[in-house]
Amino acid sequence: MSMPRKVRKAVFPVAGMGTRVLPATKAMPKEMLTVVDKPIIQYAVEEAMAAGIEEFIFVTGHGKSAIENHFDRAAELERALEERGKMAELKILRESLPPEGSVFYTRQRAPLGLGHAVWCAKGFVGNEPFAVLLPDDIIVSHKGNALKDMIALYEETGTSVTLVTDVPREHTRRYGILEPAGDATGQAVKAKNFVEKPDPKDAPSTLANVGRYVLSPRIFDFLDEKKAGAGGEIQLTDAMVELMHEEDFYAWRLHGERFDCGDKAGLVIANMAMALRRDDLRTQLMPALEALLESAQKGEKKCA
Ligand code: G1P
Repeated sequence: MSMPRKVRKAVFPVAGMGTRVLPATKAMPKEMLTVVDKPIIQYAVEEAMAAGIEEFIFVTGHGKSAIENHFDRAAELERALEERGKMAELKILRESLPPEGSVFYTRQRAPLGLGHAVWCAKGFVGNEPFAVLLPDDIIVSHKGNALKDMIALYEETGTSVTLVTDVPREHTRRYGILEPAGDATGQAVKAKNFVEKPDPKDAPSTLANVGRYVLSPRIFDFLDEKKAGAGGEIQLTDAMVELMHEEDFYAWRLHGERFDCGDKAGLVIANMAMALRRDDLRTQLMPALEALLESAQKGEKKCA
């Protein structure tokens, strides 16, 4: 039986507790923390919408209802904006919403790992290829949209693909790291293996997975086994490696930037970077940042 090639669905694993950014995440899902004026999760949803995704599947957990409210209409707020003639704000609210009927939620009942979170979406995904977006990673493609290109590769060739970028060797312990099958210089690199969070000395390369995947539904055959891997968790990387033994699997090099909002420094950097890209904020920010840097360099600690 031939499998459908069109990639219409995306899974957003959003069940994580966000312990690396406590206390901000005590009563607030980490995906709802803001980068400039949008919650982190909205960057991933907008990226998926721009890549042509039609169905948005969130794997949530306890305490994540703010995400559901965010992707719903806020009728009272819309009415108030309308009455006050705040049409620009109203437009922003409406445009940021995926169409009604296209958003689905399911819960991961225990924090058993990323592979398990994706497995929880199996019923919604069915027998179709699908994308996975880890919202902690904000991706800024320098040309076009990397996810869209990855989807095009899947639709053309039927091979699963994940996004990678070069990282410093001392950081390999934070990522799934690619072992290329051969020449690793092109944009699409055939994968031989991926190793989850290896020691720098054991890492097969410095090409790290950065939270975007387009996967064949056959991945569920391996996620079904629920085998624990690195850190005692059910890893998506391990299921990818098993899939690689049966089907071609590619890594797609990111031409662009990636910001990790999963820890405190990363979140602050993401805010500065995304704000500096904005025409409405850059002129205000630049002198303020320069002044802050200068005073930090002088060793002034005004708000310890
Ligand atoms: C996950 C994946 C890892 C990937 C990373 C990208 O790890 O398991 O392979 O490189 O996301 O952000 P996590 O950050 O959830 O520990």
